[in-house]
Amino acid sequence: MSVYDAIRMRRDVRAEFTGERISEPQLTRILQAGHNAPSVGNTQPWDFVVVQNPDTLETFADHVADCRRNFADSLPPERRETFDPIKIEGICESGTGIVVTYDPSRGGANILGRHTVDDTGVFSAVLAIQNIWLAAVAEGIGVGWVSFYDEEFLTDLVGVPAPVRPIAWLCVGPVSQFQQTPDLVRFGWRDGRPLDDAVHRETF
Ligand SMILES: Cc1cc2nc3c(=O)[nH]c(=O)nc-3n(C[C@H](O)[C@H](O)[C@H](O)COP(=O)(O)O)c2cc1C
Repeated sequence: MSVYDAIRMRRDVRAEFTGERISEPQLTRILQAGHNAPSVGNTQPWDFVVVQNPDTLETFADHVADCRRNFADSLPPERRETFDPIKIEGICESGTGIVVTYDPSRGGANILGRHTVDDTGVFSAVLAIQNIWLAAVAEGIGVGWVSFYDEEFLTDLVGVPAPVRPIAWLCVGPVSQFQQTPDLVRFGWRDGRPLDDAVHRETF
């Protein structure tokens, strides 16, 4: 598969997990892809917490359901109607969660390239996530990013020590198919925009 194919096929997966668990060799390969990401000052500020204990998956899924309910309650009626049928996670069905964390202290005080833009540290950890996401597609493995959680809850759940922060829960597992159209488009929540609208020349 070319990198362009993987980019085109990649989807945020929620409903298509088969219920089987990813194999260890596949898991290692996609984590290695994450670990090969570029990082500011070569700090590699990420860690990956692999969660497969069904009790932990269920505890997290219950918490996410609460957060989803809070978001639904915050919506005006017509948006709520659109949102209601949209699935926003496949935590238990995927069988595996990867919690990606960011350690702002990794690399010490003098980080080459983070001197002026502190966010470059988080950017680096996010690049590891994108590598995982694309490598997973090449393996026929689905990934869904879950961000409906309180950071403190997830920190406690998987024992992340300060100043390290969890920045994503990724649902990872074999899938029956990759949808061709993003779910949020299919369910009428929000369309994408054309490339031409995003490209600017010389000034914004
Ligand atoms: C930072 C980030 C957080 C996200 N959080 C969620 C989430 O909590 N639940 C969800 O269903 N999708 C989540 N998504 C997936 C997006 O909804 C999805 O990427 C977008 O709708 C485009 O669809 P596609 O990834 O299938 O192309 C998240 C994506 C990103 C990049």
